[in-house]
Amino acid sequence: MKREKFIGTICPLLLASMLASPVLVSCSKEEEPTIPLSEEEEAYLNIIALLNEDGYLTEGKKLHIHLNHKRYQNLDQNESFVNDMENGLLLLRKTEDALLAFDNCCPHLGSRNQWTYNNNKFRCNNHGNSFGTSESFTSYCSSNSRSGNLRQFPITVFNDLATVDFS
Ligand code: FES
Repeated sequence: MKREKFIGTICPLLLASMLASPVLVSCSKEEEPTIPLSEEEEAYLNIIALLNEDGYLTEGKKLHIHLNHKRYQNLDQNESFVNDMENGLLLLRKTEDALLAFDNCCPHLGSRNQWTYNNNKFRCNNHGNSFGTSESFTSYCSSNSRSGNLRQFPITVFNDLATVDFS
């Protein structure tokens, strides 16, 4: 069918609505240029795709943690902590900008699951010893220490992904 004949046979209202259709308008727009991802953004997306169902990924001596996962969601409040038993970590939200990672092995006799946190100190309720969160005077796992600071690991955060470095 020739174009003039086709236009003449369809309802003028239908033709008007087709011409005013947003689909037709959007087809004539030029595509927005895509902005290339930075290396950091690409690495972030790759790690997010590989996280396990518990919201983390071990990669050599690095541990990636998805802070939006329900296991870690308590960390959105200052002074809150998560005892990540699977990864042997105490994660502490010190301030909005400071997330800290500690060995959850008690420097006294190695208990890992009886921690509370108050006044800048972790207390192991197995025998009631408390340990600080500073980086000096580190007391190591199960070394029969009753004081000092817990072993701390470097941690970085990009978007909602925290990376702990155990090396
Ligand atoms: S094992 Fe922690 S205080 Fe003794």
